[in-house]
Amino acid sequence: MRHQRWFQALFGVTMVGTLALTACGSSSTTAAAGPKGCMKVGVLLPESDTSARWETKDHPLLVQQITADLPGVSIDYSNANGNADTQLQQAEADLTKGDCILVVAPHDSAQAAQIVQAAHKDHVPVIAYDRLIKDPTLDFYVSFDNEKVGELQGTYIANNYQKYVTPGHANMVFINGSQDDNNAVLFRQGAHKILDPLITAGTLKSVYETYTPGWTNSTAQTEMEGALTANNNDIQIAYVANDGMAGTVIQALTAQHLNGKVLVTGQDATAAGIQQILLGNQMMTVYKPIVKEATATAQLVAALSKGTDTSSIATGTTANGSANTPSVLETPVAVDLTNIASTVLADGFVTKADICQNVPAGTDNIC
Ligand code: BGC
Repeated sequence: MRHQRWFQALFGVTMVGTLALTACGSSSTTAAAGPKGCMKVGVLLPESDTSARWETKDHPLLVQQITADLPGVSIDYSNANGNADTQLQQAEADLTKGDCILVVAPHDSAQAAQIVQAAHKDHVPVIAYDRLIKDPTLDFYVSFDNEKVGELQGTYIANNYQKYVTPGHANMVFINGSQDDNNAVLFRQGAHKILDPLITAGTLKSVYETYTPGWTNSTAQTEMEGALTANNNDIQIAYVANDGMAGTVIQALTAQHLNGKVLVTGQDATAAGIQQILLGNQMMTVYKPIVKEATATAQLVAALSKGTDTSSIATGTTANGSANTPSVLETPVAVDLTNIASTVLADGFVTKADICQNVPAGTDNIC
């Protein structure tokens, strides 16, 4: 439907242009509504300190891939640094500057609907990047299978909890991401899908669960400290939604000499997260090949600008209120000590120099 809408918009514009040409006998037409011919793209990312990924991976990869697919494009880049109002202002500023395609990773999946509405007033399509924007008129969504991310984390726990629990001591906590990020809801959903049967059966006991506002890493530490105190340190498993928060949860565990003894999960395959895996403090992470996400986004941007088919790129759909948003959803990969070399190192997502910093030489046959 949506593809068709843009096609119709473009077709309409072409007709008007042709008529104008015929009528005026001039080759100068006014700027066309819609993204066709667009060479000014706004890229808006949500935060810089909730995960290293945004500024070290997404920002450079998006700029690189969009520029490669649309030579001569100019890109306005902004990071909202955790503030949804700031992000709306940044989007409005981009529209004022004449940006004609927006790529937005929303800080707040619901509030960012205002960005979509503002953009559509100017006939500017919006591609939601990594995080869904909850608006049925959203044009495209490019991300990973985010429920699958939670399933990979949950499956790791289901397959490995025995090494950490003893009879009567199988207590787990859930430190989820930010509830206003649709991804955090999906990660949680995926993890619970795998772990709830074990909890219902009494094999594992959930003693604490929370969302972490804004994915604030330091808040995750406070949450873990509170959970440890409330349970007299009797915690064996910490489901933690990403590597940034896992790092601070590990600080809370280390203060109680529990690091390495508690199963800790993560996500993003950051250099710091992989270091913690090598050191034995974190047991797994989820690798999301961001280059694929940035590449698909750039392909959509280029197709919109060139007026070519987008349906061969956005082959999936995502339920979004009353509509389905055309989507590209890439596949996440679970990473632990056994496959660091064959995944993140083999792909060049991290280098040995990155992950072996502060890790003793000889560790795990990697450093
Ligand atoms: C992303 C994760 C990231 C988290 C915090 C989520 O929406 O998918 O990769 O760790 O936000 O920035």
